[in-house]
Parts: sequence; structure tokens; C-alpha cells
Amino acid sequence: MIRNHINRFGSLYHNFPIVKRTYQVVVAATKEMGIGKNGKLPWNLPSDLRFFKEITVTASSEKMNAVVMGRKTWESIPTKYRPLPGRLNVVLTTRGGSYDIVTSEDVVKCGSLPTALNFLAESSISSKIERVFVIGGGEVLREALNAPECEAIHMTKIESNIECDTFIPPVDLSAFQPWYSSSTLVENDISFRFVTYVRMNRSIIGNSDEEDLTFLPQMILERKIMSMGI
Ligand SMILES: NC(=O)c1ccc[n+]([C@@H]2O[C@H](COP(=O)([O-])OP(=O)(O)OC[C@H]3O[C@@H](n4cnc5c(N)ncnc54)[C@H](OP(=O)(O)O)[C@@H]3O)[C@@H](O)[C@H]2O)c1
Repeated sequence: MIRNHINRFGSLYHNFPIVKRTYQVVVAATKEMGIGKNGKLPWNLPSDLRFFKEITVTASSEKMNAVVMGRKTWESIPTKYRPLPGRLNVVLTTRGGSYDIVTSEDVVKCGSLPTALNFLAESSISSKIERVFVIGGGEVLREALNAPECEAIHMTKIESNIECDTFIPPVDLSAFQPWYSSSTLVENDISFRFVTYVRMNRSIIGNSDEEDLTFLPQMILERKIMSMGI
């Protein structure tokens, strides 16, 4: 099918571009860095789902954001809610052409994380994509969380003890510093906080102005300003 190979974002498999896009991670994790159980989220936190939507959907009328996820995370999204609307859904899979998930022009399959970042860096795509978020699951985040291209991590820190079977590594605090934290919230008897970590030495990924935090989503900048009482 033609749409499996070409859509308005271009062809699916791209091996040539050299420049990669940077990205931000959005994830909810327990103190033990658990993120999933039995292929699903181990908690029911509607306010975290709202936070996820607000952070990953751009307010821009001209551009959209991209969400990069593993094939199992894609499959964990109920059919009626996928692709995640208003975002370019980039699904990582090694299954190539045998795995047919491209159901709309807002879904792209890529064979590796570098391939996805190269694809998103192509000038014809890059100009249409405002921000790139890597959203899980465990296998993808074990590669992506502390990688040099990761500029910021938006983590919902689940403070209650919840059993998980999928885990991610801890945030590398020699590379990232906590920049924003909400107060502790409670929903469905689960305590959690929203924390944003920012990479300290962003010049290594081509950001010449360390003080420039405008790459962060507007809502995070606004929350930080509100928390400072300005
Ligand atoms: N708490 C959170 O914020 C959060 C967020 C997302 C997901 N989750 C949870 O995490 C769990 C799923 O995580 P998971 O680790 O089992 O699976 P996953 O990372 O979502 O997906 C794994 C699959 O993605 C593909 N993949 C991963 N890395 C790849 C790479 N570098 N290149 C090409 N393909 C790659 C492979 O697909 P193929 O086998 O097709 O090759 C692999 O089997 C679920 O429980 C889900 O609910 C939690």
C-alpha cells in the first residue's frame, strides 16, 4: 500500500541524514523506576494522562509534536485512542514491512531510535515538527532516557508503592538537574509529583545558549513561574 511507504511526512525508512533531533522524555515512574505491569500502566491517574496530553500536544496551529514509542506501548493504547491525536506517532519496531500499523498519515514506523531521530531531523519533516517526545516504554527508555540527545525528562514521580514488571534506569544526576517540581498530589489514593529534569551541559548537543530554556513546553515554563510566585 502506498500509505505504508509515503505519507505527508515522507517515506518510512531513512538511512542517510546525519543530523539527529534532540528530544524530551515523558514518563511516569515509581521510586524503583517501575513504569508498567502486564503490558499496561499499573495505575489509574487521570490527572497524569491530562498532564501527558497537555505537555505533548503543541498549541501551534502550524506545527505538531512527535511522540516516539516502542511497538508494545503502541499496542497498549486502546485502538480507539490511537494514533494519539494531534501528534505524529512514531512507532519503533524491528519488524519492518511485516508489521502493518500505518493506519493514518500521522503514524510512522521506524526501525531504530537513531533512524527515527534522523527522519525527524530531515528538513522537510523538521520544519513541521515543533518538539519530539520519547514516551516509552521500558525497552525504548532504557536506550533513550540518559542518552546525549535527551534534553529534558518530564517525570511523574509515583510516591506510593505499586508493583511493576517493567523498569527504566534512574535519571543520571551527573547529567540532569531537577528544574521544576510540583507539590505532591493525591489521586485514587496514589501520591505523585510532576518533576522536570533539564540536561546541564546542553552545549554538547548543539544548544549554544545554556540559559535558553524555551525548548521546554510552555506549560512547564508557566508552572515554574507560578511556583516561584512571580
Ligand atoms: N509509565 C509510563 O509512563 C509508561 C509509558 C509508556 C509505556 N509504559 C508501559 O511500559 C510497558 C511497555 O514497555 P516494554 O519495555 O515492554 O515495551 P516498549 O519499549 O513499549 O516496546 C518494545 C518494542 O519496541 C520495539 N523497539 C524497542 N526499542 C527499539 C529499537 N531501539 N529499535 C527498534 N524497535 C525497538 C520492539 O518492537 P518489535 O518487537 O516489534 O521489534 C520492542 O519489542 C507497558 O506496561 C506500558 O504500559 C509506561
